[in-house]
Amino acid sequence: MSRIMKEQMFPFGEDVNYDRAKEVKEFDESKTGVKGLLDSGITKLPRFFIHPKESVPKHDATSSCLFHVPVIDFTGYEKCRRLEILNEIKEASETWGFFQMVNHGVPVWVMDDMLKAIKEFHEQPSEVKKKWYSRDHKLKVRYFSNGDLLVAKAANWRDTIMFDFHDGPLDPQAYPLVCREAVIKFMEHILKLREILSELMSEALGLKRDYLANIECMKSETVVCHYYPTCPEPELTFGATKHSDPSSLTILLQDTIGGLQVLHQNHWVDINPIHGALVANIGDFMQLISNDKFKSVEHRVLAGSVGPRASVACHVYPNASKKYRPIEEFISDENPPKYRETDITEYLTHFRSKGLDGCKALPYFRL
Ligand code: OGA
Ligand code: NI
Repeated sequence: MSRIMKEQMFPFGEDVNYDRAKEVKEFDESKTGVKGLLDSGITKLPRFFIHPKESVPKHDATSSCLFHVPVIDFTGYEKCRRLEILNEIKEASETWGFFQMVNHGVPVWVMDDMLKAIKEFHEQPSEVKKKWYSRDHKLKVRYFSNGDLLVAKAANWRDTIMFDFHDGPLDPQAYPLVCREAVIKFMEHILKLREILSELMSEALGLKRDYLANIECMKSETVVCHYYPTCPEPELTFGATKHSDPSSLTILLQDTIGGLQVLHQNHWVDINPIHGALVANIGDFMQLISNDKFKSVEHRVLAGSVGPRASVACHVYPNASKKYRPIEEFISDENPPKYRETDITEYLTHFRSKGLDGCKALPYFRL
């Protein structure tokens, strides 16, 4: 093969003797994810997990201590402290795009059981887990490693099991047995919190309490449950590359290992785990409909030598059969609409086409 031909096959400039596509394919076909690699005893990362040097942070001084992600106590949200809480949510959503919530009503034991069950799913024998492995977006429950494996420039050190609730609750039989009870219980509580947040976000935007519910902006969700195995060379890769979420809102449960960071005023700031807390972050779709009032901010997860780490991200989405554009209340002569009309299917198609490590998806829809 001529050099030119080889170079065309390796558009990212890899060593021409390295068959990246083949390695990626073998990894995917193993259906055992990153956990499978680790269990096979590897001490060096396969090359397709290695990120460009300039993007991987130095592990000693990565997080800025200048800033602290807001922590909002939801105690009294119905009455006595509602105004105070609304102000805190507004401030955090405009400046950070992130906040942590405590006393949000989801029992700590429900969250602990969920994290334990997710770990148990990922730690099952390969033969049991393999049956769930798929890249078919039409499946309601599936396990995979790196949703963007086939389009991303570099892979991340994590595996995921995902539940898609776009068509409503799932038949209990659809869940893997190891996590069935825990996921059903967790969802029962998360859906209540989703309703509470739909009202609080509406009011924090200065709209009527039922506004986001009426336009069905917080209608359904996919729940992605990540497993970040310990990493033999954490300085070469990521748990998750920097990205912003395509959702309206994301509600995130993380265990106590740490590694999640948000980009704030050009600094990467740790979102320190608080046992019993949940993290909320504004997604791209909320930024779009609020005409940039609320910000969807980039975040990432560092790979770690201590682990495994588990997290559960509930991505709340708008109605898939409706079109959305910036809400009238946020448009005026001085502040014209910044985005064109779109729907979540088109948005996700664009988001998925570029990989987590590509540029942000939102500017593509900017007028
Ligand atoms: C996500 C995400 C962070 C985490 O699923 O979009 O950013 O801590 N997850 O797993
Ligand atoms: Ni995210």
